[in-house]
Amino acid sequence: MPPVPVIFEPGGALVSAPPGVFLLKAAQTAGIEITSTCGGRGRCTSCRIKLIKGTIPPPTIMDELQLGDDLVREGFRLSCQTLVTEPVTVQVSPPLTEEAFQILGAEQGIGGQRIAIDAGVRKRFVTVALPREERHQTSDAEELARAADLQATTLPLDLLRTLPGILREAKGQVTATTFGERLLSVEAGDTAGLAYGLAIDVGTTSVVTTLMELSSGEVLGSVGSLNPQAPFGGDLMSRIAFAQFNPSNLRKLQARILTLLNEQIEEVCRQSGVLPRWIYKVVIVGNSCMHHVLLGIDPSYLGLAPYAPVLRHPVLLPARELRLRLPHAIVCFLPLVAGFVGADAVGVALATRIGDRPETRIAVDIGTNGEAIMGSRERLLASSAPAGPALEGAQIRHGMRAAHGAIDRVRIEGDVRYHVIGEGAPLGICGSGLLDAIAGLLDSGVLDWTGLIQVEDRDGLPPRLRERMEVRGEERCFVLVTKGESATGQEIVLTQDDIRQVQLAKGAIASGVLMLQKIMGVPTRETAELMLAGGFGNYLSIRSALRIGLVPPLPEARIRYVGNAAALGAQMCLMSEAERARAAQIARRIEHISLAGHPDFQDVFVEAMNFPRSAPTLDSYPDSA
Ligand code: FES
Repeated sequence: MPPVPVIFEPGGALVSAPPGVFLLKAAQTAGIEITSTCGGRGRCTSCRIKLIKGTIPPPTIMDELQLGDDLVREGFRLSCQTLVTEPVTVQVSPPLTEEAFQILGAEQGIGGQRIAIDAGVRKRFVTVALPREERHQTSDAEELARAADLQATTLPLDLLRTLPGILREAKGQVTATTFGERLLSVEAGDTAGLAYGLAIDVGTTSVVTTLMELSSGEVLGSVGSLNPQAPFGGDLMSRIAFAQFNPSNLRKLQARILTLLNEQIEEVCRQSGVLPRWIYKVVIVGNSCMHHVLLGIDPSYLGLAPYAPVLRHPVLLPARELRLRLPHAIVCFLPLVAGFVGADAVGVALATRIGDRPETRIAVDIGTNGEAIMGSRERLLASSAPAGPALEGAQIRHGMRAAHGAIDRVRIEGDVRYHVIGEGAPLGICGSGLLDAIAGLLDSGVLDWTGLIQVEDRDGLPPRLRERMEVRGEERCFVLVTKGESATGQEIVLTQDDIRQVQLAKGAIASGVLMLQKIMGVPTRETAELMLAGGFGNYLSIRSALRIGLVPPLPEARIRYVGNAAALGAQMCLMSEAERARAAQIARRIEHISLAGHPDFQDVFVEAMNFPRSAPTLDSYPDSA
């Protein structure tokens, strides 16, 4: 991939940066001074930049923690956390407005807009007076409780079992860790500086675990994998059907996800040198089915009208009870809204602050289940539509996750050009590449608006494209990568069926948004912003999303890609108990709109499966009439 031009203002220095490096590094390599007080660890704000031209990248948790939501929305980012991917113009250490300056100048957590770091985990190094004489009517538990300001009667039995040995070995010098009123651990010596947590996003198709330091919010490592339940069904309904009224299948699904989580925990700890016993808090987001299955709760009725979940409230339980190999951690499940609007949607609503502002905005989470949230501080609506895993690269002939070897960018102009993650030969194509490819095929006339590969009419097309269009047996296909160019020695093709899968997915998502717009009575032109969320792992092209009709035709400036907002919401709840409380309020505020129960839905869905005949404008959209 060629270097990416980045312009640094003031001064207008043009730097050609290799894609994938941090902006801070790119600037420093080119001799542009950016202060990095914390050494590029995302712990200060000195390296801040403002994106003034080009695509604004999704914020990281460190952007949210250090800069706060208002500045993040204005396009501020920490240059040490922002990767170079697209041509951009940035302003270095931009002057902040007075109000914003106060926010940044305030103590950590008092700024109002910044997230107050308070994970709720307290570690106290205390000296426990060991009972010395028989006439002292006391006990280890009472002495620990006295020293650590706890209630002896509430100390958990499993900690009491090992307490006498630890107290005596450490001569009473121990660190007691609590979460709220709960005692999580008693460790010999002073371990007060070691406190970590995990934010876990359990998606139907992929699972991401992020390890963070609880005192700073620093991300120490992240591991993503495919959900190993996939062989039992690619989408939610088939996963539910597999476990429905079948406890042994439910146990199978649960065992698979727990095994994966334990593997991810081991891996992320290994990467960062953190021991599992120093992890005290885990926040999990996931849709209702993943939530129930992980807890071992019967999901049968999630699959039957009226699709009610067994519970919706936030759940707290020791990690041991879930059989996660974290001896001291407490696991917090974020709350659910409805059977098909789960904790992942709550995470998106939290991270995007969609319910906080006067203007109406839309957030669309593009996953196997496509959730749409629309609203303002007056009202919040959410719907979900089964999009299937196509946009995440699954159930596509040569689809793959946005990992090393995936084609993540495609341009079709006379011939096919593409970019591969990791810069090597391609192995397959991921969601963002798929959207680009289809947008390009539509523009070049390879596909018509119904999604058919135009093999019969290929004569008028440029020769390079023409020779890539084929009918093999019954199947139409378009060759994206020839045998000689791929990493496997096999062609990478897009089949007619792949295109249909994408149409189903985008039809489900687009119709969900349209239905919310109808019900809320706010048409596209009055929608202030559309936020695209999803774990694409790389930037989704907004232009491609518009071209294929995945999103309503807002001007590009009013659409932004906010990254994996569900995972960001989980990270926010990990770092802040106030945010976790806020998530519970949001879950209670969201009104669930059942699409299937709405008389207009079927027609809207069928229409939304087609592609726009040309790049759409506000006037060509059904709700604008
Ligand atoms: S250098 Fe401190 S946040 Fe980037």
